[in-house]
Amino acid sequence: MRKLYLLFLALPFFSNAQTNPVLSAGNITHVQIEKQQISFKTENAQGQIVVYSPNMLRVRLDKKELGRDFSYAVIAQPQTCNANIAQSEESITITTDSLRAIINKKPFSVAFYTLDGKVINEDERGLQNSWVGDEVTAYKHMQNGERFVGLGEKTGNLDRRGEGYTNWNTDAFGYATNRDPIYSTIPFYIGIHSGLNYGIFLDNTFQSDFNFGASNDRFSSFGAQGGELNYYFIYHKQLKDIIGTYTQLTGRMKMPPLWSLGYQQNRYSYYPDTEVMRIAQTLREKKIPADGITLDIHYMDKYKLFTWDKERFGNPQDMNKKLQDMGFKTTVIVDPGIKVEKGYEAWEEGVAKDLFIKYPDGTNYTGQVWPGWCNFPDFTNEKARAWWREKVKFFANTGVSGIWNDMNEISTWGQKMPSNILFNYDGALASNKQAHNVYGSLMARSSFEGMVKATNKRPFILTRAAYAGLQRYTAIWTGDNRSEDDHMLLGVRLLTSLGLSGVSFTGMDIGGFTGNPSVGLYAKWIQLGAFNPYFRNHTAVNTKSSEPWAYGEEVTEISRNYVSLRYKLLPYLYASFYTSVSNGLPVARSLAIDNTFDDKIYDTQFQNQFLFGDAFLVAPFESTKGFGNIYFPKGNWYNLYTGEKQAGNSEKIVRLSLQKMPVYVKESSIVPMQSLIQSTAEKPSDTLSIHIYKGNLNHTFVYYEDDGESYDYEKGAFYKRAISYDATNRKIVFGAVEGNYASKFKNLKLVFHGFDAQDKIKTAQALQDDFASFLTPISKFDPQGSANAVEGYKVKSVVISNNAKQFEIKY
Ligand code: NOJ
Repeated sequence: MRKLYLLFLALPFFSNAQTNPVLSAGNITHVQIEKQQISFKTENAQGQIVVYSPNMLRVRLDKKELGRDFSYAVIAQPQTCNANIAQSEESITITTDSLRAIINKKPFSVAFYTLDGKVINEDERGLQNSWVGDEVTAYKHMQNGERFVGLGEKTGNLDRRGEGYTNWNTDAFGYATNRDPIYSTIPFYIGIHSGLNYGIFLDNTFQSDFNFGASNDRFSSFGAQGGELNYYFIYHKQLKDIIGTYTQLTGRMKMPPLWSLGYQQNRYSYYPDTEVMRIAQTLREKKIPADGITLDIHYMDKYKLFTWDKERFGNPQDMNKKLQDMGFKTTVIVDPGIKVEKGYEAWEEGVAKDLFIKYPDGTNYTGQVWPGWCNFPDFTNEKARAWWREKVKFFANTGVSGIWNDMNEISTWGQKMPSNILFNYDGALASNKQAHNVYGSLMARSSFEGMVKATNKRPFILTRAAYAGLQRYTAIWTGDNRSEDDHMLLGVRLLTSLGLSGVSFTGMDIGGFTGNPSVGLYAKWIQLGAFNPYFRNHTAVNTKSSEPWAYGEEVTEISRNYVSLRYKLLPYLYASFYTSVSNGLPVARSLAIDNTFDDKIYDTQFQNQFLFGDAFLVAPFESTKGFGNIYFPKGNWYNLYTGEKQAGNSEKIVRLSLQKMPVYVKESSIVPMQSLIQSTAEKPSDTLSIHIYKGNLNHTFVYYEDDGESYDYEKGAFYKRAISYDATNRKIVFGAVEGNYASKFKNLKLVFHGFDAQDKIKTAQALQDDFASFLTPISKFDPQGSANAVEGYKVKSVVISNNAKQFEIKY
């Protein structure tokens, strides 16, 4: 009996009588090599591998002929570069200046290597790239100790090993902290192992599934319910360069309007207009700086888009003007659902111009949302996008500066849009299965393009649902979170994961959307919000008031302190956004970016720590905790509040308090700050303080300014200068100014941190006349700046005039 059983096991798994439901690519049967690309046929598929750059290869595979090459995410073309392609009986080898790909022919499989032969990533050969029905999957061999980060707005841990995820944009009201999927889709992740890291972007808008070793230890996999296997493989030595290449591929953000980096006050909903004005006035009276007021769905007439409720908002233009005069900008919410109602202009136009998504029988799809039964513009159709671009003028004309795109998953009551709904998909009819995940991005894009056209200024655009590449048009927030401690901390991971996935302008509802936070949690959350790229306070309908004064005197003061700190830090934050614009690095940075191979940062007790820009280490903890354990990665750190130094590669238990959130500054950092203002409409004083933290690292900070509202910076109207901390030569070099925009700051106040009496701060040589006041070497100074200090010891800062020329300071 036992022998029989063994014999059975030895037989091929499938006898001829059975059909194998899994179709594998099979052996390569035909290869064509052209310059930087190979096209091939396998027994069951067709494919193509294209060298996009020395660091990026694209792999395409389909059961059928390869289809239309079209993407809503990718904007880059292959660059001409060295690519040596050689072929043997067994394999094809592609060698670029930074990696080697070996394509095995029998059966088809791909493996990527470093030039010195280390495996970066390889197909799991036994499993192959294969199909089950229309679902296509690539199986990758799980490398020893492999970790996975990124994949956009995904719940769970920083290291995604052991988890599986689905991309299907979903309205996830009050989602649990492990719920998947939630609102947006970015099928891009970064794999890390053996001192190597790589990125994979699966550009496929169908529902996609990623398995990072969930229920198996053999493979990681990614695949989609339809369409091609179409992925980009990126390899760099440093993780930050992977983000750089990914954002070259899918695009980078443009400079946001300066005002949108200020504090924004939301609720569902402020109405009528007098209530909006009361909120604005109270912010000013209580000296809580703010730039934005957001109107949720109750501003509309019965939730009908492109209308104002005449009772609640009799004269929106006048209200927006008054807000503007007080230094506030107005953002309004828009939903995609257009109410089905005879005589309602937007709907009549949509029907007349044939703009809505449809059933296969040609009738418009109707789903229920706030206004009742609605039709939905087909944002995958240029005709509908053009219409929307015109429609948003309605808001621009009443003085609105921001558009908040909500419910664009598409969310309808019942949350079950049929699969057979048809979309134009820019000329190649697609079902809901293919178009669903990209709809939100295209709505946001239409709002963005319409507002730019209408105002000739940078608009603030926010979206809930999106697809990869969203950063080109819009900011994103993490939807309907809960007023709970673990949600606040999950929010950090959502933001840093989005940052790893090319999206910098991100935020979460401060205070939590559903429910009411405790006093302590509210205080912690608003402190954290000051270090979120997008800083918005929001809460659901029927919850407790969530303005900074709603939680008592002490919390009002805490809020004021942190919102004020945010405003003082705006020059630093604005320059940090410029980094996202110029190289794709996010503002809220996972520690995995700089400390990729440091196991500690993935420890779940440290995974909520992040960098705000390149200088600040922020360590949020549950509001209920009295003590917190902080991990300091390599390098030295300074306590932001006390200046106390902390060596890196170490853990430290700190006492937590209601009043302060633990924040540290990295050594060798350069942090520009301005005087306190109540909104960005107010001019700061003409002195820019540049804080310099003594350190052993060489580091460059790019200071950046422009008018904060137009796109003239794209034509050279900016003021930019690299400030380098050169620890090797013990000097700080202020590079020459680039661009033709005049800085708003006449003076620079250099503030030295961590330097001691032995450090002789002096100019390197006799500088130009402009620096006459600084010519006397400061031989000694007291870092505490105590007034009682001995003469000559009390200087820890110096003011010089802001000059465009290069200069340096030695110590
Ligand atoms: C859902 C959004 O996520 C929430 O922020 C908003 O307040 C409500 N829709 C009402 O518009």
